[in-house]
Amino acid sequence: MNVLIVLAHPERASFNGGLVNIAEERLRSAGHDVEIDDLYQENFDPVERASHYAERADERYFAPLTEQRAHYERGPLPADVQREIARLEWADLVIFQFPLWWHAQPAILKGWFDRVLVYGGLYSGSRRYDRGHFRGKQAICSVTTGSPEQAFMPFGRAGNMVEWLWPIHSSLYYVGFEVLAPQVSYGIQGGGIRYQDEDLFLDHLENAKQAWASRLPGLGQEPSIPFSGWDDWDEQGVLKPAHPMRWRP
Ligand SMILES: Cc1cc2nc3c(=O)[nH]c(=O)nc-3n(C[C@H](O)[C@H](O)[C@H](O)COP(=O)(O)O)c2cc1C
Repeated sequence: MNVLIVLAHPERASFNGGLVNIAEERLRSAGHDVEIDDLYQENFDPVERASHYAERADERYFAPLTEQRAHYERGPLPADVQREIARLEWADLVIFQFPLWWHAQPAILKGWFDRVLVYGGLYSGSRRYDRGHFRGKQAICSVTTGSPEQAFMPFGRAGNMVEWLWPIHSSLYYVGFEVLAPQVSYGIQGGGIRYQDEDLFLDHLENAKQAWASRLPGLGQEPSIPFSGWDDWDEQGVLKPAHPMRWRP
C-alpha cells in the first residue's frame, strides 16, 4: 500500500512530528511505501488568491472555482498544487497529522484543502461523496490536543471532537475518501497549560505513541465511518423519509 503522511506542524521535532516518525517506521516495516508531505518544510502557501493563476479565465473578476476549473482543464495548475495532487493520486491511504488549534486544523492544512482539492478536477457536481474522485482510497486524521480527554466528554469544557472534526471528515468524504475513525492523542500539552506532573505526563506521552503504533499495521483493514450517499438523498439533498436516520422517537 502507498501511504502519504501530510504533516501540518511548524516543528518537525514536536510530538506531532514524532507520531509521523512512528507511522513511517511502522508502515515501512510492514512493507508499505511511505511518503512524508511536510507542509511547513515545503513552505506550502495555504492562501487561495488570484496570483496563483497564470492565465486567468476571467481577468476582471477572480472567482476561485472558475479559475480552478479552467486551470485544471487547460493548465497550468500552480506547481505546488500539481505536486500535491500527484501525491494524492499515488496514495492508497492518506494520514493527516496535526494538532488541534482553535478547535480545528492549523491554517496551513485548511488552506491545503482550499487550494489542492481543485474544482472541475477532483470534484464536480456529479463527482462527489460516494461518487467522488478518490473512491477506494482511505484517509485518517491523527490529531493531538492540549486539553485532556475528560474535557472532551459530553458537556466537557473542550467541546465535542466529533463536531470539531466534522468539517475535515465531511470534506474528505466529499471528494470520495473512505474516512477512518480518527486517532486522537489527548492531553499533549506542547509547552502550554500543564494538567499533570512531569512523570505522569511523560508516561502519558509514551502511552499515546504506543496506541498509535499498535493501530497502524491494521489501518488498511479498518472499516470506514459510514456516511449517507446519493441513494439516501432526495432531489433537495435531504435524507429520504424512509431512511433509518429519519426515525422519530
Ligand atoms: C494556536 C493554538 C491553538 C490551540 N487550540 C487548542 C484547542 O482548541 N484545543 C486544545 O485542546 N488544544 C489547543 N492547543 C494546544 C495544542 O493542541 C497542543 O499544544 C498540541 O496538540 C501539542 O502537540 P505538539 O507538542 O506536537 O505541538 C492549541 C495550540 C495552539 C498553538
